[in-house]
Amino acid sequence: MNNKIINDLNNTFNDKTPLEVIKYLSDVYNGKLAFASSFGVEDQVITEMIAASGGKIKIFSLDTGRLFQETYDLIQITRAKYNLNIDLFFPDPKDVENMVNSKGINLFYESIENRKLCCHVRKVKPLKRALKGLDMWITGLRRDQSDLRQNLKTVEWDEKNGLIKVSPLFSWTEKKVWDYIKEKHVPYNKLHDKSFPSIGCLPCTRAVTAGDDVRSGRWWWENPLFTECGMHKS
Ligand code: ADX
Ligand code: SF4
Repeated sequence: MNNKIINDLNNTFNDKTPLEVIKYLSDVYNGKLAFASSFGVEDQVITEMIAASGGKIKIFSLDTGRLFQETYDLIQITRAKYNLNIDLFFPDPKDVENMVNSKGINLFYESIENRKLCCHVRKVKPLKRALKGLDMWITGLRRDQSDLRQNLKTVEWDEKNGLIKVSPLFSWTEKKVWDYIKEKHVPYNKLHDKSFPSIGCLPCTRAVTAGDDVRSGRWWWENPLFTECGMHKS
């Protein structure tokens, strides 16, 4: 991949707000990019910005089949509030059947290999399908979400998926995200009010205690050095 494109985009975005970044992408990469939303609080900020910038950027979400009811409720609420189409991508049923029939429905608690297999079947493979034919995807990643994300840049080359990845909120703090949510009355997952700062699949997410790392409730039984699902490099 031409590093020049990545560097030029990073330079262009250097003094731009996330909303300006999204407007730029919406104009320049129209039709060749999509936003991946997990309906987490950062993703809700980006969805609001996409709506505010004309709603031209496609939004998709990976429904793993193991999400919280609160997340499904928020999908409905968000679609209705912003009048946006949000495409859901599901795992291949054959892959799920093979996996759960050979390794059990809750295989992820048994080993890191099993957990990674489940994330691969339910997230990583459907993500590849969602990104097919695109030049760029947008994520809600932030640098201070975890030690593993410290080196994040606004624009990166996503080697694994073979396209550009843009994270407009990469430098925002958690407080800044919440200030934006409150100021713009953006709907958010009710679980955030119950000590769930980061929300993924139900069996792999639990509440955290105040002061703990925001991602400490994700795959809490594993070593925090490995707690990425494989969608993002670790
Ligand atoms: S994860 O890798 O641990 O699951 P996290 O929940 O922090 O990631 O989310 C980081 C970003 O990855 C989100 O802002 C979103 O862009 C993308 N993402 C994560 N899960 C999903 C999902 N189920 N569907 C679509 N995008 C997702
Ligand atoms: Fe499977 Fe848990 Fe990964 Fe969801 S987070 S895909 S349930 S291992």
